[in-house]
Amino acid sequence: MKQRQVLLGVTGGIAAYKIPLLVREFVKRGTVVRAIMTESAKEFVTPLTLSTLTGAEVVVGTFPSAGSGHAHGTWHIDLARWGDMLIIAPATANVVARLAHGIADDAVSTLALAYRKEILVCPAMDHDMWEHRATQANLSALRECGYEVLPPEVGELASGLTGPGRLPEITRIADAAERILAGSRLDMKGMKLLVTAGPTIEAIDPVRYIGNRSSGKMGFAVASAAARRGAHVTLVAGPVNLRTPRGVARVDVESAAEMDRAVKRLHRRTDGIVMAAAVADFTPVTVSRRKIKKSTVKGGTMELRLRETPDILKSLSTLKPRKPLVGFALETHDETRNAGKKLREKGVDLLVLNNPLRKGSEFGGDTNSVTIFTRGGKPRKLGILPKFGVANALLDRLVRFMAKGGSGGRTSPGTGRKKPAAGRRPGKKSSARRSRR
Ligand code: CTP
Repeated sequence: MKQRQVLLGVTGGIAAYKIPLLVREFVKRGTVVRAIMTESAKEFVTPLTLSTLTGAEVVVGTFPSAGSGHAHGTWHIDLARWGDMLIIAPATANVVARLAHGIADDAVSTLALAYRKEILVCPAMDHDMWEHRATQANLSALRECGYEVLPPEVGELASGLTGPGRLPEITRIADAAERILAGSRLDMKGMKLLVTAGPTIEAIDPVRYIGNRSSGKMGFAVASAAARRGAHVTLVAGPVNLRTPRGVARVDVESAAEMDRAVKRLHRRTDGIVMAAAVADFTPVTVSRRKIKKSTVKGGTMELRLRETPDILKSLSTLKPRKPLVGFALETHDETRNAGKKLREKGVDLLVLNNPLRKGSEFGGDTNSVTIFTRGGKPRKLGILPKFGVANALLDRLVRFMAKGGSGGRTSPGTGRKKPAAGRRPGKKSSARRSRR
């Protein structure tokens, strides 16, 4: 880990006594370390120990004392720009809960909320606390938000009991950090990506609707993976029960028409679009302003007149300037033929085929088994992968496609405008604004 820089956030658990050894291990591997600690961590390890070993001042508490190098109110923003990753070790059950809910009331949780690069959380606690449903739910929420979690080891705990909860061996933490840093790519840095996710729902009356089955997990995984690769991501989401991934700006919509408007509004300011949403194809011709009473429906059969919704993806392929487009195809039969047809007819550059009737691709699951279609290329079937893995495989291809000058002119990351082909005169300057984070 030569010349790597790691921020180490220490919180108040008994395993904090091992952290000086972790600092030593990093230093031995050539890594520059800076430490931040909570007030309660001071009960287990002193700031002096950590500052001596890191050779740098240690930030303690949300309001560092006057005279320290971090005595100004925005230290967490400055520090959030530093280093390649943040490691929180040990992470107590309390800090895990606060991170999961975006609470920033100590130095470590405040920095974590502002940090945009990789964060590795190393929980350590008593096994009853580890196994508690609340802790496990909080850990799932952290993973959903894009945190890496290194599970604790099973062994003897400070309480004298035995079970899961021990902080992993120091070398295991350092190895995990190395793996994350080796795998962390910033190949989408500055790129503006628009991702849609989830279903759309179409109102019948104020209480009823029709819509598609979709958890939104695939689109959220794409948004999360792209943000971790450095992209500025805007996620247009239908009604789903998911947390916004770290570093992603979210726009909530309900109907296909609303999603269409949101996407068209954002189109100019993006470098590429991934349409992972399960957009409803039909919407009621009329929407009753009052609840339709069962008693008004004759003979137990109700007729609903539907009209087609706008095909957002298809219309995007005709918009100028043309942006690299990724579509999804949900097929239950004749998959390859239907997907090939969609690739051509919707004018997309990459198409991800999945079948919810197949093992590993079920609705609401955490895995997907997809085939990626490209124009002129051979379809590539991926095995069953976590949705995050599928997202990265898809982004790999999108990045390659864009690097080759996708959509007839190379899209310049961060500006949303095409680079003119060699020999052509540059056009007018783009007025594209930076997307929100
Ligand atoms: N899509 C869209 N607007 C629609 C319907 C679909 O933008 N009104 C997009 C989806 O986000 C997806 C792709 O088109 O990226 C294919 O969606 P899919 O549901 O598989 O196909 P449909 O176009 O709905 O066609 P069919 O229902 O006949 O399979």
